Amino acid sequence: MNDRLLRALRGEPVDRTPVWFMRQAGRYLPEYRDLRGERDILETCRVPELVVEITLQPLRRMPLDAAIVFSDIMVPLAAIGVPIRIEPGRGPIVERPIRAAEDVSALRTLEPGADEPDLLEAIRTLRGELDVPLIGFAGAPFTLASYLVEGGPSRNHVRTKALMHAEPHLWARLMERLTAIIRAHLLAQVEAGAQAVQVFDSWVGALDPSDYERFVQPWMPALFEGLDVPAIHFGVGTGELLTLMREAGGDAIGVDHRVPLDSAWERIGADRAIQGNLDPAVCLASWTAVERKALEVLERAAMRDGHVFNLGHGVLPQTPVENLQRLVDLVHERTGRDSA
Ligand code: CP3
Repeated sequence: MNDRLLRALRGEPVDRTPVWFMRQAGRYLPEYRDLRGERDILETCRVPELVVEITLQPLRRMPLDAAIVFSDIMVPLAAIGVPIRIEPGRGPIVERPIRAAEDVSALRTLEPGADEPDLLEAIRTLRGELDVPLIGFAGAPFTLASYLVEGGPSRNHVRTKALMHAEPHLWARLMERLTAIIRAHLLAQVEAGAQAVQVFDSWVGALDPSDYERFVQPWMPALFEGLDVPAIHFGVGTGELLTLMREAGGDAIGVDHRVPLDSAWERIGADRAIQGNLDPAVCLASWTAVERKALEVLERAAMRDGHVFNLGHGVLPQTPVENLQRLVDLVHERTGRDSA
């Protein structure tokens, strides 16, 4: 069993820096496109055989140090009956956005065993097939709230911010409900066999630190408490939020490419692990460019224990597979240590 990822997340010595990619399963792989065909993504997530196969596809291509279960952050919300579809090229669309107290009350609790048995079955099967750790995941309350309130992807999250400031009590109830749903979703994945989890607060970088502190941070510790497996806490554009995110929880903080890894690590603190942070767009360029930028990340990580190599955000659909394959090899070759 390759446990580099788990060791790095705990800050323990490793023989090489572990590497995996957010969205490592997806449209950049021809075998993924073939298997998915025209099938809707949320529908795909409900077929355990497809989830297992798609999760394994990138691992057959390159020696990644982790698998991430193929699912979506909207899955637990769809599972409790929120009318959601995911539009190709656009993202999640919520038919009746949440704007009033009744809408929040209508969000019922998640009972994973009954509401998302296919996800849990896929996780149990995957554990039997993998020789690297399996990562389970969830969207964070703010990021899910943004889709629910905006009704779809948003550039400025204007309605979400208006709601939190205009109706802080309603916002608090929404966050409380989402936190309960997400916690149940994470715990069930761990119970089914996930050996680490990642919480995606992808859009939280839209907030300033004082709004983060007031409208997001209070609910975050409940997601990480008593999980029994290491957790990664990730967001995009979070340079100014890193110390607050660290206090909010997670054994590792995931950072995007806008902040240099070494200065991010200073903000996060030496006692925490860090994950990141090559710009995914660079992977569309020549191998020479990918190599140069990847070595820059490794130089900033300085072979310190507690670094998990990843991109700053998900793999883009136009990415040449070969660049990722060479990137995995490069990270492994350049980070060999004889200590562990
Ligand atoms: O990392 C993995 O390999 C696991 C798979 C995974 C998916 N979604 C499958 C998926 C993960 C980790 C997610 C998380 C997710 N979903 C996030 C957080 C991560 C991030 O990127 O910030 C968010 C914001 C979503 C919501 C969502 N789902 C978006 C914005 C999209 C893209 C829509 C598009 O077509 O561009 C999706 C659809 C989606 N979920 C795809 C995949 C592979 C791509 C669409 C497809 O394959 O048809």
